[in-house]
Amino acid sequence: MADKIKQNSHVLFYYNRSKKWLVRIARADVLHTHIGVLRHSDAIGKEYGSRLTTNKSKYVYLLRPTLYDYAMKLQHGTQIVYPKELGYIVARAGIGSGQKILEVGTGSGSLTSFVANVVRPRGHVYSFDVDSKFMKIAQKNIDRAGVSKYVTLQNLDIKELDVTDDSNSDGGAPAPELPVSGADVALIDLGDPWEVLPQVRRMLRGSGCVFAVCPTMNQLEKLSASLVENEFTDIESTELILRNIEARQGKTRHSFQGIGHTTYLCFARKAYFERDADAYGAVGADRVIDDGDADDDDNDDDDDSSSSSDGRGGAGDSTSATEGVTDTARAKPSAKAGRTTKKPDPPRSRRGGRAASPKGSPASRKAAPAKRPKAA
Ligand SMILES: C[S@@+](CC[C@H](N)C(=O)[O-])C[C@H]1O[C@@H](n2cnc3c(N)ncnc32)[C@H](O)[C@@H]1O
Repeated sequence: MADKIKQNSHVLFYYNRSKKWLVRIARADVLHTHIGVLRHSDAIGKEYGSRLTTNKSKYVYLLRPTLYDYAMKLQHGTQIVYPKELGYIVARAGIGSGQKILEVGTGSGSLTSFVANVVRPRGHVYSFDVDSKFMKIAQKNIDRAGVSKYVTLQNLDIKELDVTDDSNSDGGAPAPELPVSGADVALIDLGDPWEVLPQVRRMLRGSGCVFAVCPTMNQLEKLSASLVENEFTDIESTELILRNIEARQGKTRHSFQGIGHTTYLCFARKAYFERDADAYGAVGADRVIDDGDADDDDNDDDDDSSSSSDGRGGAGDSTSATEGVTDTARAKPSAKAGRTTKKPDPPRSRRGGRAASPKGSPASRKAAPAKRPKAA
């Protein structure tokens, strides 16, 4: 059956890459543009993909909006996460249908809408913002993307959540309960993401992924150090660069236009630095099952030689921002570009990660946060 446009359908009126309008069809509405007038009523009953002709004889295609179109056209109250980052976030954090997602900093709801569409129909996004003004804008954008059923928005300052065990020791008002538990992935987009790491950690499941959106390198540095202090591993910072190509017969070249800097991304996973069960020689080593994975080779050259004894697992490439987190982690470059000189390895777990250092060792003291509530 042909897919026809109806009253209230969302349609992208597409003239060219820079001239397109995302509308909700309302029989009486008329869109006035520099290429002429478009009557919504003329689109009703047409199949998606067909075209209208304006009163200036220009063709406009009636396209079904994708999430990319919603993201690019959404109402901005804040900076947003753009499509070039959205896809990578989903792939790197393994976000999929049925997952529980925690988001700190709803903003305009760009990331929220995209991720909600990925986790639906059984998953859910729990998104928090301290500013109710932005939440109203986000709600509109989320509604427009058709995913509001899969999103819970809450007006809350995540920094205010007390994650110490003695939450009333200061005699003040009781801290609110943690609003989410066992999240698969946490997404953080605010100016000082390190400030909410203890709270986010408590709401994540073990090994759960965290992604933070950091527009500046200064934020990346501070966040990476804080991730180590808060017992996260597999820390990796990235920048995604997108280049458009003008593809035309005989004169294909890069486009002069393009997106400049949007943001850096920082990824990590929740670990327990003090949990030692699978280390060689430690209690429980006999329970380790060899999965035959070649990556388990202790001489694996991919192991990031820049990993320090703080428990971080390096990504094995020079893009890892954690390489610059501590001075002790920074060593002389080895023959391999971007690598650092290998230090003697502490015992390793069978799965290729470093075993936690024995309690009280200098390494474990370095890994432990200066003062952090009990790791959840
Ligand atoms: C850059 S915007 C997020 C944009 C969003 N990722 C998007 O794609 O539309 C940052 C948001 O974080 C919110 N925020 C800042 N501090 C917060 C806190 N402590 N708890 C919750 N939200 C906070 C701000 O109000 C703002 O709306």
